[in-house]
Amino acid sequence: YPAIPGVEPQICALDAFRLAVASKLAAPLGIPIEKAYEGIDIGKKEADFTVAIPRFRLSGKPDEWAKKVVDAFQPDDMVESAVQDKAFVSFMMRTPTLVRKVLDQINDLTYHTPSKKAEYGCNHSGKGKKVIIEYSSPNIAKEFHAGHLRSTIIGAFLSNVHRATGWDVTTINYLGDWGKQFGMVAVGFDRYGSEEALKTDAIHHLYDVYVKINRDGEKEGEEGKAVHDAAREFFKRMEDGDEAAVKQWKRFRDFSLERYKQSYERLNIEFDVYGGESTVSQKAMQDAVEKMQTMGLVETGEDGAKLVKLDKWKLGSTILQKKDGTSLYITRDIAGAIERYDKYHFDKMIYVVASQQDLHLAQFFKVLDLMGLPWAKTLEHVNFGMVAGMSSRKGTAVSLDHILNEAGEVMHEQMRKNEAKYANVENPEKTADEIGMSAVKIQDMAAKRINNYTFNWSRMLSFEGDTGPYLQYAHARLCSVQRRAADAGLTIPTDVSTVKTELLVEAGARAIVALLAAYPDVVRTALKTYEPSGVVTYLFKLSHAISGAWETLVVLGQEKELALARLWLFVCARDVLGTGLRLLSLRPLEKM
Ligand code: ARG
Repeated sequence: YPAIPGVEPQICALDAFRLAVASKLAAPLGIPIEKAYEGIDIGKKEADFTVAIPRFRLSGKPDEWAKKVVDAFQPDDMVESAVQDKAFVSFMMRTPTLVRKVLDQINDLTYHTPSKKAEYGCNHSGKGKKVIIEYSSPNIAKEFHAGHLRSTIIGAFLSNVHRATGWDVTTINYLGDWGKQFGMVAVGFDRYGSEEALKTDAIHHLYDVYVKINRDGEKEGEEGKAVHDAAREFFKRMEDGDEAAVKQWKRFRDFSLERYKQSYERLNIEFDVYGGESTVSQKAMQDAVEKMQTMGLVETGEDGAKLVKLDKWKLGSTILQKKDGTSLYITRDIAGAIERYDKYHFDKMIYVVASQQDLHLAQFFKVLDLMGLPWAKTLEHVNFGMVAGMSSRKGTAVSLDHILNEAGEVMHEQMRKNEAKYANVENPEKTADEIGMSAVKIQDMAAKRINNYTFNWSRMLSFEGDTGPYLQYAHARLCSVQRRAADAGLTIPTDVSTVKTELLVEAGARAIVALLAAYPDVVRTALKTYEPSGVVTYLFKLSHAISGAWETLVVLGQEKELALARLWLFVCARDVLGTGLRLLSLRPLEKM
């Protein structure tokens, strides 16, 4: 498609229609085409594009301008009609052109790309740019809570969106693997630890030890105090590089990480780098604190701690270094960001962290900014709300493993109820697990990030309503149509130009095609808003449109040309649904 200067490059069929509409606006309104192009909105039901004339801020009455547009309108191959409603004009795309262009493009960008990967919906807006995305970041020896789960799911989505839009992406898991809690764990391990348990189930065992030692630490008087003193001492040894202390800590870290990697693999989520607070160098922290000192940003508090005052920006004040010279969470974040910039020279860096830490992130972004680092402005905090009903009382925490196991098991029971179908699924346990993962993820991404939600097993695992299992089912059903058609000797020819798309005249078919056409826009929007819910909502709409069409767009038993046209529509729908599910980090299922 021809590029118009000053406008996002054309990437999809819908853009071509947008351009066609823009050209019908520009002349009568006397405005440049790029201005017209940007003033076009996707329409609601009947109209395909709507234009609100007041947006162009022309002198004179908007209604009269709208009339001028309609009077000057000439239908063509792309745009069929223009209808005025007061200051609005609605344009209809010509259905046969729309269907042909959209299905052709999906086919090309799914099966015939140089990269051999499906690229429908992708664009190159991030080409040549580097982004670091940090997410998940659980704390070793502490609970993997809902906040970590959300960060994992949303972070994976953001990584996929950036990859789909041409960014060079590096993902980092910034483990909470440093700090006094390791002193606690070490002291606790001496009292309650078991080598055996560490090897088989490090995460739960260390957490168990951590809870027990914390209880001891809460005891009145000397007994409790001794625990904390010993823990502090152990952590100090870690920071000083004491070999035995570091060795013990590293074992805790390695065994836990191994378990985490299994859960990530199960969730279809990967990291380029497993970093963590421990990987931030002492030198980088020292340098940062010194630099701030010479810049006059640091004050010494009454207790001898070094702090930075940020009241001017309503961010309170924050301690950078304790009296004994040990670092804090924020010290590590400041120095860690500097190290990352020196290493990656990113164009932006995203932290996916719960909104409880809004203040912490704002503080360390501000400190970096005060240090005069120009890239500090490229740091972004993607936050999200809380989940109720998943965290539990002290010591009986629901771990990530528990959640994933339970989701898989409940799905498996559900599937067993339908014996006939169950017999057809090749690997029922794995399939059940996958549907379970989908349920957890879709529940998490279904609403705006910032909203809180309540973890609800029965709602998220249901096949009815807007759930993960429902989306997977819609995909599997499309696959089954394709399989059954193939059994009846019906397959899409390599040369798709022979498929008679003009036979797709039903309103249901047009509705599906219009949604398929919108997918590239959905991806663009996701890059701007960082909201997975936009994609989830879109996939629900698409799935509803598809299930609403089963009765009117029957494939089998029709005349061959009609059957083929309908089949092709469903194959394209399956391709787009699958691409969208993958964008959300789900693995689309072919049978269930
Ligand atoms: N490990 C931290 C926690 O569980 C989250 C880390 C967030 N990232 C960061 N750079 N501070 O609270």
